[in-house]
Amino acid sequence: MKTQVGIIGGGPSGLLLSQLLHLRGIDSVVLEKRSREHVLGRIRAGVLEHGFAKLMREAQVGERMDREGQIHDGFGIAHDGRVDRVDLKALTGGNTVIVYGQTELTRDLYEGRDRLGGVIVHNAEDVIPHGFDTHRPFLTYRNGSGAGRIDCDFIIGCDGFHGVSRQSIPRDRIRTFERVYPFGWLGVLTRTKPVSPELIYARHERGFALCSLRSPVLSRYYIQVPLTETVEEWPDESFFEELRRRLPREVASALETAPSIEKSIAPLRSFVVEPMQCGRMFLAGDAAHIVPPTGARGLNSAASDIYYLYNALLDHYSRGDSGGLENYSQRALARVWKGQRFSWWMTTLLHKFPDSSAFDQHLQQTELDYLFSSPRALASLAENYVGLPF
Ligand code: FAD
Ligand code: PHB
Repeated sequence: MKTQVGIIGGGPSGLLLSQLLHLRGIDSVVLEKRSREHVLGRIRAGVLEHGFAKLMREAQVGERMDREGQIHDGFGIAHDGRVDRVDLKALTGGNTVIVYGQTELTRDLYEGRDRLGGVIVHNAEDVIPHGFDTHRPFLTYRNGSGAGRIDCDFIIGCDGFHGVSRQSIPRDRIRTFERVYPFGWLGVLTRTKPVSPELIYARHERGFALCSLRSPVLSRYYIQVPLTETVEEWPDESFFEELRRRLPREVASALETAPSIEKSIAPLRSFVVEPMQCGRMFLAGDAAHIVPPTGARGLNSAASDIYYLYNALLDHYSRGDSGGLENYSQRALARVWKGQRFSWWMTTLLHKFPDSSAFDQHLQQTELDYLFSSPRALASLAENYVGLPF
């Protein structure tokens, strides 16, 4: 098979790029390791910034998001037995976020690709990018119908943190920057009315907790757990009991529970690779960088990569201008690092670190006191949470 852009990974990054390119007459093929059902079974992001939403509309897949997604003007931070509100709209001069699940967004992207006749090869095993240092890169893979080869002009690695694209770049051509946190988030999805119409991030001496939602009848809750623990050690009753203990009394007493419909543990990590390109292969989204989910930045950082790449590929194909491709890594990384800083800061502010000293705990407490006593400090949080401009 021959195409212009060969994309590895059919998660939100790969699908969005492929859809945007298609609408501008640029051909692509997406190779996805898993089945469509598997990709749609992942419960991940819940909060989108408007930059992402704008790209979804440009890709002509934003209709359901605009209809069913909920605009949130603010969120709460629970600490010391109370909830303080971060009024995003007032603090940013009118900006808000959209609560719309990654599962729904991915479904919309798949439907968009189907509508236009986009090519997505599922269950593509042993995908290997070749020749990205030459003018003739190509991809090889295997699936149910045998071995396949895709010749292309460019390879885009959108295959997430564990994907093959970044791992195919020779070690001496990249640098990685990483922080692994000594805990994870245990997440539960339930068919219940959310405990609060707005998200509540909770700092507590027993550990962090988050009350989030997907819709007025679907709740998503998280608690910080040590990495040594497993889902099996957390039956629903224990999960909700622990969640209640970490929430202010009036929030805890309003919590409705029901059997979980999904339960999983996500480790927390900050990671960046530099540069985000090697020859004719470009990395985007989680393949190039990941953040702890505390600042709701991961998918939103992927969106800015896709925006830069899409425009760079457009310039290349429509005007023969390759400047955007040459500068892609530099442009993308400038925003990526800001997302890293914010996610690390939110994580440090709200989690219980097993090795933290009394001094560290005082600083954490003071940071919170400062935040809610300084409109300027709070405005900085709000500006980052709604998303910095692309
Ligand atoms: P992925 O979603 O990881 O997609 C990569 C795809 O590539 C996958 O489908 C995978 O199967 C495929 N693949 C992997 N290897 C190969 C291979 N070798 N060959 C072919 N295909 C391959 N972000 C936010 O912005 N807001 C939030 O509120 C938020 N909440 C989160 C909560 C949790 C618990 C977690 C875990 C993450 C959260 N995120 C959030 C982050 C967000 O989910 C990710 O940043 C996002 O999924 C990145 O999309 P992606 O397409 O780059 O990568
Ligand atoms: C979620 O709803 O899954 C969610 C929301 C906000 C975050 C992280 C996850 O910061």
